[in-house]
Amino acid sequence: MNIKFETPRGLLEAVRNVNLEIPAGASVGIVGESGSGKTVMSRAAMGLLSGSNVRREGTVVFDGKDLTAMSREDVRNEFGTGMAMIFQDPMTALNPVRRIGAQISEGLRLRLGMDKRAAMARSAELLALVRIPDPQSMLRKFPYQLSGGMRQRVMIAIAISCNPKLLFADEPTTALDVTVQSQILQILSDLRRELKMSMVLVTHDLGVVAGNTDFVAVMYAGEVVEQATTTELFANMKMPYTEALLKSIPKIDMKSGQRLPVIEGRLPDPTDRPIGCGFASRCSYVQAKCTTEHPPLVDAGNGHLFRCWFPLGHSIARKV
Ligand SMILES: Nc1ncnc2c1ncn2[C@@H]1O[C@H](COP(=O)(O)OP(=O)(O)O)[C@@H](O)[C@H]1O
Ligand SMILES: [Mg+2]
Repeated sequence: MNIKFETPRGLLEAVRNVNLEIPAGASVGIVGESGSGKTVMSRAAMGLLSGSNVRREGTVVFDGKDLTAMSREDVRNEFGTGMAMIFQDPMTALNPVRRIGAQISEGLRLRLGMDKRAAMARSAELLALVRIPDPQSMLRKFPYQLSGGMRQRVMIAIAISCNPKLLFADEPTTALDVTVQSQILQILSDLRRELKMSMVLVTHDLGVVAGNTDFVAVMYAGEVVEQATTTELFANMKMPYTEALLKSIPKIDMKSGQRLPVIEGRLPDPTDRPIGCGFASRCSYVQAKCTTEHPPLVDAGNGHLFRCWFPLGHSIARKV
C-alpha cells in the first residue's frame, strides 16, 4: 500500500509499496524506528485513516480479504466486531471519569446487545482473562487508581471483549517498564492462542517480536525493507538496518541511566526521499551504488524478502 499525506510542505510519503499478508491465527510483528510508518499503516489497514489529505493504494490482506480496498463500513460489515486495536498509552484511551466496569461493559451492551447485569458479569470474566487479581473490586475503580500495566490490561480486556479475529497492538508495552512489558506480552501471546486471534504487534523494539511473533516485517522510511518468519529473520538477517535495530535493543542488565545505543543519523525527510537507499547515509556497509539506485524488494529464495544491494553475508558487505 501507499499512503501519502498532502501537507503544506508537499506530498509526504508515509508508507510506500507495502503489501502485507496476515495469515489467520498468526502473529505478525511490524518493527521499525519511530516515524517509519508503522502506525499509519496499521490505522490504514483497520480503516481508521480518514481525512481529505490522505491518499492510499496497495494491500493488507487478512483471511483472504484486502482490508485496504474496503471502506470502514465494509470492514465493519465483513468482520463485525472482528478487529480491535490497542495503543501505547492506555490512559488516553480510557475515560478518566468513568469506572472500569462501566467502560468495559459499554461495548458489550452496545455491540453484543447484553443487558447491564450480563455485561458486568462478562466484564469481570474479561478482567480475569487478562489476569487482574480481584476483578470485582477492579470493576469499581477509576483509571487514575491503576498503574500503567493494569491500565493496559484493562485496554486488552476491552479489545478482546467483542471476540476480535484480528488484534492490532501498536507499541502496547512501550510506555511500561521491562518486567511489566514482558507480563503484558505474555498475556497477549496466551490470549491469542486461547482465543484463536491473529495479531499484529507493532513495535520499535526488535526484542519484543523475538518470542512473540511468527512473522516479522521490518519497516524503514515507509517501506518494508526486510520480511521473513521470525526464526529465519534472526538466523539469517540480511539488512544492515535490521542489524542496527538489533544492536539498539535495551538489555535488561543495563544499569539504569545508561545510554542506549541508538542508530546514528536520522530518517530521511518523508517529503523529500533520497534517490538511492534511504539508509545509505547511516549504513556502515554503504557502497557507491547505494546512494544512486533504490534497491528493490527481493526474495532470498525461501520467502525471506529484503531490500539491499549488499545484504549481510554478502562477500562485499562482509569486507567493509
Ligand atoms: N495525519 C498525518 N498527516 C501528515 N503526516 C502524517 C500524519 N500521520 C503521520 N504522518 C507522518 O507519517 C510518517 C509515519 O508516521 P507513523 O506511522 O506515526 O510512524 P511510526 O508509527 O512508525 O512511528 C511520519 O513522518 C509522520 O510524521
Ligand atoms: Mg507509531
